[in-house]
Amino acid sequence: MQQRTSPEVAMSNATAVNLPADWSPSSWRQRTALQMPTYPDAAALDGALRELHALPPLVTSWEILALKKQIAEAQEGKRFILQGGDCAETFDGCTSEVISNRLKVLLQMSLVLVHGLRLPVVRIGRFAGQYAKPRSADSEERDGVSLPSYRGDIVNGPEFTAEARIPDPRRMIKAHARSAMTMNFVRSLIDGGFADLHHPEYWNLSWVGHSPLADEYRRMVDGIGDAVRFMETLSGNQLHNLNRVDFYTSHEALLLPYEEGQTREVPRNWGWFNLSTHFPWIGMRTAQLDGAHVEYFRGIRNPIGLKIGPSVAPEQLLKVIEALNPDNEPGRLTLIHRMGAAHIAEKLPPLLAAVKREGKRVLWICDPMHGNTESTTNGYKTRRFRNIRSELEQAFDAHAAAGLHLGGVHLELTGEDVTECLGGARELTESDLERAYRSTVDPRLNYEQALEIAMLIVRKRGQIVGL
Ligand code: PEP
Ligand code: CO
Repeated sequence: MQQRTSPEVAMSNATAVNLPADWSPSSWRQRTALQMPTYPDAAALDGALRELHALPPLVTSWEILALKKQIAEAQEGKRFILQGGDCAETFDGCTSEVISNRLKVLLQMSLVLVHGLRLPVVRIGRFAGQYAKPRSADSEERDGVSLPSYRGDIVNGPEFTAEARIPDPRRMIKAHARSAMTMNFVRSLIDGGFADLHHPEYWNLSWVGHSPLADEYRRMVDGIGDAVRFMETLSGNQLHNLNRVDFYTSHEALLLPYEEGQTREVPRNWGWFNLSTHFPWIGMRTAQLDGAHVEYFRGIRNPIGLKIGPSVAPEQLLKVIEALNPDNEPGRLTLIHRMGAAHIAEKLPPLLAAVKREGKRVLWICDPMHGNTESTTNGYKTRRFRNIRSELEQAFDAHAAAGLHLGGVHLELTGEDVTECLGGARELTESDLERAYRSTVDPRLNYEQALEIAMLIVRKRGQIVGL
């Protein structure tokens, strides 16, 4: 494929970016693609993919480039990224309540962060497309019966029956529609004033009784309200840009046939965009240098994320960075480390040192969830709040020691009243888990635990930068 340089960056030669050679939206098909389902009906798959290619996209290229610019600013320490949402969205969870409750938690957290960090916060939801899940085994055994694993609602159903577990390509069309509905509702809420700082009471969750953190949050909201009224009295005008915020979407772009179907050229920007989401990321299990996912991601112009686990060596990371961002373009690449509280102090510093030494422009953010998953004696997959907290605090320290900064956080959370992670302000114990454990995949922070994380980020970063 012909090399072209983007007109907007060609002028500043330092960041000239080229369309990669020998790439197309389907060139990943020449590589090994891990974690892909085997669809039994080739004709049905073909039909679904043709339909997906013709359906309208979910986001636009200019929104994608606006986010890339904001991520570039976060790389310079001028913004903080809050990325969060469900481990896996479900088709049944596409309801007004689930969507608006999740938005409320993210808005409350971002208010805490903006206020405490004194930085603009970039809000990126893990929603409107987070339907595909990597699994550690291809099959699941129960009582001597073995069935294909559940791979997320975009592939098959979670019920343990042979029929539900057959990969169904029509689910890709349904996932696209559910993503569009989610997106539409989020956009309407925001455009309608739901995020208006004059009305933070819109974000209160009806099920929250007296939370141990509520007083601290309320004091902060009252303080912000006073400041807003003061500024408005002083200027004699309403502060208008307080009534809307930007929300971007993200998901793990795991199911490559789906991602390919939404990868397009657009009239006014050069190159290819994944228009199913603003910010796709590569999961830890599919980040091989010569694998299909790295091949697909290297050719799209979106800002992208890469999950990094404790087994990644510095040299290996540098090679993947080179493949994904050969021009060292600002805003292009976010590294999301997820080491586990027990490993981060040993595993992260060599990676930070190598990336810094080579002058690679990346944004570092911490996922303190996925390295801290464990099973309880009563059979629940859970995470301990104290491990999540510890990984996050150690991440801030490791970045400070390396002369870098942690630019954001990646969390699994929900606005529903669930009991999936242990600990936190209400000190949930193993026996609380059965009360409201609803996740089909990983355990999520509930509202209080999420808010507590936002508060501890403010405290920890405050200690480091001396606020
Ligand atoms: C996830 O983010 O849900 C996930 C599976 O993460 P990881 O790829 O880091 O294991
Ligand atoms: Co998860």
